[in-house]
Amino acid sequence: MTKYVIRGGNPLHGEVVISGAKNAAVAIIPAALLVDGVCRIENVPQISDVTLILGILEDLGAQIRTVNRTTLDIDCSNIRKCRASYDMARQIRASYYLVGALLGRFGNAYVPMPGGCDLGARPIDQHEKGFYAMGARVQVINGYIDAKAPAGRLHGAHIYFDVVSVGATMNVMIAAVLADGLTVIENAAKEPHIVDLANFLNSMGADIMGAGTDVIKIRGVPRLCGGTYSIIPDQIEAGTYMAAVAAAGGEVTIQNIIPKHLDCISAKLIEMGVEITEVGDSLTVRRNGPLTKTNVKTLPYPGFPTDMQPQIAAVLCLAQGTSILTEGVWDNRYRFADEFRRMGANIQVDGKIAVIEGVRQLTGAPVSACDLRAGAGMIIAGLAAEGITEIDQIYHIERGYEDIVPKLAGLGADIHVETTSTEEDWHIHAV
Ligand code: EPU
Repeated sequence: MTKYVIRGGNPLHGEVVISGAKNAAVAIIPAALLVDGVCRIENVPQISDVTLILGILEDLGAQIRTVNRTTLDIDCSNIRKCRASYDMARQIRASYYLVGALLGRFGNAYVPMPGGCDLGARPIDQHEKGFYAMGARVQVINGYIDAKAPAGRLHGAHIYFDVVSVGATMNVMIAAVLADGLTVIENAAKEPHIVDLANFLNSMGADIMGAGTDVIKIRGVPRLCGGTYSIIPDQIEAGTYMAAVAAAGGEVTIQNIIPKHLDCISAKLIEMGVEITEVGDSLTVRRNGPLTKTNVKTLPYPGFPTDMQPQIAAVLCLAQGTSILTEGVWDNRYRFADEFRRMGANIQVDGKIAVIEGVRQLTGAPVSACDLRAGAGMIIAGLAAEGITEIDQIYHIERGYEDIVPKLAGLGADIHVETTSTEEDWHIHAV
C-alpha cells in the first residue's frame, strides 16, 4: 500500500508552477483521432488519467512519440479500429470522448461505458441525445456504447441540452467537426477547457465559433490536418494550491496560470481574509491572519467549480464561524466528510448542503482519499493539522495532480510518500 504522510503545521512559502489542465488534456488527446497527420501537443500533464487515455489511443493504433517531458507527437492517421480496450476505457471518465471522435471520423464507435470518480449518478443521456440528433444510432450492449451513423458520416443538427454538461458539450463538439453541415449546441457549458478544445480543433483546421458562450456553432469541414497546440494551465490544480496556502498559511506565488480562470476561486478566498495579488500570468497568495466564514455554492463556469468543493471545504473547516457549502452539480460529493471528521472537523451534511462550523485546529489522522478532489481536500486539511495525517488510496489523487508531493515539499510542506510491505497491509486489513 502506498500512502502520503504529512506532518502538518508548516506554513507554505515559495513558488509553484502549474501543469497543463487535466480536463482539457483528456479531451484534446482523443480529439487527435480526427486529425489526418501529426498533432504536437505541448504542456501535457503527467498524470495517470493521461497515461490511460494515451494507452487506449495506442491500442487503437495511434503512434505516440514523447518529444520531451510535457510534449507529445500523436499520429492517428493509421487507426482503423473502432473498438476501445474494455479494461482501460472503463477506468476513466474521459473515455467517453472516444465515442465522439470515432463516430466523427469513422461513423462507428464501440467504447466501454466510462468510469471515473463516484460522485453520484453520472448519466450520459445528453451525449447520446446529441449523437442521435446528428444521425447516429446509440445503444449499450455488453457494457459497451455502440454508436453508428448508418449513412457512414454524421450530419449537422440543432441540439439544445437539458442540463449544462461539460462532457456532452465537448463530445458533441468533437463529433461535429467532420460532420456534414452546421451543428448548433445551445445551453452549452462554458468551462475554460471547452474553449481550449475548440482552440485546439480550430488550430487543426476546424470551424468552431462561440466556445465559452452558451451557443456553440460548428461548421463541418472535410478534414483536419496536423499542427502544434499547447494545453492551458490547470484551473483546479492552481485553485488547490491557493486553498493549501489559505489553510496552512504563508505566501506562495502560483505560476503559469490564467488569472481570469481563477477569479471565482480568488473571490471566495478574499472574502475569507486571504490576500491575493495578480502579476502577469501568476498570482501571489498570502495568509497570515485568521480565516473568516463564508458561503459557497458550486455551479457551472463561471461559478465556483465543483472540482474545488472538497478543497474549499477543508479551508472552511478552519474558518471562524459557520459556513454553508452547497453542491450545485453532483448528487453525492460529500463522501469526504466522514474523513474530515476523523481530523476533528465539525461538518454536517444534509443532501447537497454541508454546514461547517470552523474549529481552531484540526488534528492529523489516517484517512482515505475516496476520490480525486476529496483526496486533494485531505492533503490540504493535513497540511494545516497538528500532527501526522496518513492518506491512503492515493491513486485517486495521482489521476489528476502532477508531482503533488514534490511540489508541496518544495513549498516547505513536510510530506512524503511511504510504501508499506504486503505483510503490513495484511495485518492492517486483518485487525
Ligand atoms: N448530466 C446529465 N446527463 C448527461 C451528462 C451530465 O444529466 O448526459 C448531469 C450530471 O449528472 C451532472 C451535471 O450534468 O449533474 C454535470 O455533469 P458534466 O457532464 O458537466 O460532468 P462530466 O463531463 O461527467 C466533467 C469533469 C468533472 C467535473 C464536471 C463538472 C472531466 C473528465 N470530468 O465531468 O471533473 O466535475 O465536468 O465540471 O472533464 C474532476 O476533475 O475531479 C471531475 C470530476
